[in-house]
Amino acid sequence: MDHATHTDNDLEMDKVVHSLGLGGFARHVFLCTGPKCVSPELGLQAWEALKSGIKEEGLGKSCYRTKVGCLRVCQAGPVVVVYPEGVWYHTMTAEKIPHLVKEHLPSGGLLENNRIGTYPLSKSNPNS
Ligand code: FES
Repeated sequence: MDHATHTDNDLEMDKVVHSLGLGGFARHVFLCTGPKCVSPELGLQAWEALKSGIKEEGLGKSCYRTKVGCLRVCQAGPVVVVYPEGVWYHTMTAEKIPHLVKEHLPSGGLLENNRIGTYPLSKSNPNS
């Protein structure tokens, strides 16, 4: 590998990491936009509601968001999972997303409804 190119790539990656604010987030929310758990149209409506809600609530620097194509639940979507708590939600439509944004994302408070369960990542490796 060309050392100069490697260094340039490292600098570019550092810029991306800095501009994204990686390392400064308290939560990461993944939202499935279907197509198996929900129609892509409704999935994208939920995604737009999540994006605008995070912005409106001023959570852009504390909550990272990622749109995904499948979380393997594949029913009652849009399916959402929030880390680090590992809380999974079903049927998080555009109408329900504001509750998630106001109640869970700032402090980790759980929504009363729509919860599939809480399954934090295991600290032990089941394959070891
Ligand atoms: S398509 Fe949404 S969980 Fe599989």
